[in-house]
Amino acid sequence: MAGGGSLFAFLFGLALVGAAGCVYPGADVPYVQTPDEVVVEMLQLARVDRNDVVYDLGSGDGRLVIAAARDFGARGVGIEIDPRLVAQSAESARRAGVSERVRFREGDLFQTELADATVVMLYLSRELNLRLRPKLLRELRPGARIVSHVFDMGDWVPNRTIRVEARERSAQVFLWIVPPKS
Ligand SMILES: C[S@@+](CC[C@H](N)C(=O)[O-])C[C@H]1O[C@@H](n2cnc3c(N)ncnc32)[C@H](O)[C@@H]1O
Repeated sequence: MAGGGSLFAFLFGLALVGAAGCVYPGADVPYVQTPDEVVVEMLQLARVDRNDVVYDLGSGDGRLVIAAARDFGARGVGIEIDPRLVAQSAESARRAGVSERVRFREGDLFQTELADATVVMLYLSRELNLRLRPKLLRELRPGARIVSHVFDMGDWVPNRTIRVEARERSAQVFLWIVPPKS
């Protein structure tokens, strides 16, 4: 009986890891992709254009940064802690023909200088958004846009919130505009 219980716990644990995605050592959140339909909505919500520099903090397979360059003419920077995903992103950018307009850096998003970003994309967690908030307000220029898939920023009220349907699920996407420095 005890053996059966242990087996159940082991299988349940495996299922949880599978559901959460793969967590790279040192990563603050697991790797889960933003669906492509939501990627488009996020970039449109920020009104990304060819004058923008779009950062994705925790860029996964690079899809947001690559779409910003390929479909909106922007430049982009992806910061990702998992070197395997950084390599995959660079290869996808090459195949999409946007290598000249994007960069993927292996590193910790909290150690990344954000001053040249005009748009920041996030799909992290509420807790990480709250930890990031002072850095975003300190380093980004007034007028910079921040877009977050699913997770809000506590009592920082978004300028816009939309609901997006993808893969038979519905998710909120939030937009904040960095206010003038006081
Ligand atoms: C939920 S995924 C989002 C991936 C991508 N932005 C997207 O929307 O498809 C979060 C990503 O952040 C990365 N990550 C977690 N903690 C990080 C950190 N401290 N610095 C950089 N990347 C991190 C994870 O490895 C993962 O790829």
